[in-house]
Amino acid sequence: MTSPLEQRIGPELEQLVRDGTYKRLNFLESPQASRVRMEGKGEIIILSSNNYLGLSNEPSVVRAGKEGLDRFGAGTASVRFICGTFTIHRALETACARLVGTPAALSFGSAWNANEAVTGTLLTEHDLVISDQLNHASIIDGIRLAKAVTKCHTAVYQHGDLADLDAKLTAARDRRVKMVITDGVFSMEGAIAKLPDLIEVCRRHEAVLVVDDSHATGVLGDTGRGTAEHFGMVGEVDIITSTLGKALGGAAGGFVSASAAVCDYLTQRARPQLFSNALPPTVAASSLASIEYLEAHPERVAALRENARYFRDQLLGLGFKPLPGETPIVPVILGETAAAIRMSDLLLAEGIFVTGFGYPVVPQGQARVRCQLSATHTREDLDQALAAFRKVGRQLRLI
Ligand SMILES: Cc1ncc(COP(=O)(O)O)c(C=O)c1O
Repeated sequence: MTSPLEQRIGPELEQLVRDGTYKRLNFLESPQASRVRMEGKGEIIILSSNNYLGLSNEPSVVRAGKEGLDRFGAGTASVRFICGTFTIHRALETACARLVGTPAALSFGSAWNANEAVTGTLLTEHDLVISDQLNHASIIDGIRLAKAVTKCHTAVYQHGDLADLDAKLTAARDRRVKMVITDGVFSMEGAIAKLPDLIEVCRRHEAVLVVDDSHATGVLGDTGRGTAEHFGMVGEVDIITSTLGKALGGAAGGFVSASAAVCDYLTQRARPQLFSNALPPTVAASSLASIEYLEAHPERVAALRENARYFRDQLLGLGFKPLPGETPIVPVILGETAAAIRMSDLLLAEGIFVTGFGYPVVPQGQARVRCQLSATHTREDLDQALAAFRKVGRQLRLI
């Protein structure tokens, strides 16, 4: 007999299949890279990973992970304050802080946890958090959690609309702590937050600015230090959260970079820190090696930028209308979710893996395939992908 739960979710799953919005997992038999071996499909060019710098398979990064495993074993088997903190975590946090330009940093099991920790720990019922309308799901859920637990006040400002933010901060002038939170690079659009304006508004209102740089760390700025470097404002953001699961080796993990006091407070109070194990030392070691690699090889960041420019220009030349921008996230808007998934399926049949995104990840009617470039894509990889886009685009009468 099926349980009430199974009775409810079974038909929902069937509906997803009927709607053409069911997500099928593709299994990889080789490391994440520009070209991978996909089970049952052979060699595929990946154009949808966050492996922006190609470090997930960089020999020095992989070697560091193995050495971390050999030196520290699989893990502490408990949380940091109970069972001890590996020295590799301290070294990683020092490197994170140095990279993004803050006095201190604290690592978490994921950037999701890091975002949850910031809002869920630092706010009280006297405070307000204001979030950009298009912020990542982890920020949205972190705020929902904070609202339920701390009873803090919450508001949303229109995407990138500084006048709206200004008005909402003015209306909230009596709140004790005012926190403004934004993605540095918006993951579905590839748009960059207007950091200089945000900093100006936050300073005027004495608000704390939090920037989630998950898609900007290793990507923006001449040396990959993120949104602040892009605008020449390193050291001017109060709190930066970011992931170790994208450009910085792609394994997993995240961090909060901020003042020593904020990091100390999170060490004392943040529930994802107090009640969840630290990153495995393997991951701490490979992430640290990724940061060191980035610091020694700024040319990877330049190569990423050049690949993004080339791919975007060529797509425009073919007649597609990618969202304009200067990041390696290049979304092509198709409308309905099923259309995005169909395009993604047809591209995969041509050997190109690009994921289609639909509602509720993006607004209704704005489904898209989101291309993401890597520094390690060769011109041949990109030209092969563009040829597939031309073929599928014509087949679907998009160009
Ligand atoms: C802007 C942003 N923040 C946070 C996250 C979560 O990162 P993690 O995989 O480390 O939890 C992501 C990942 O998709 C992201 O794009």
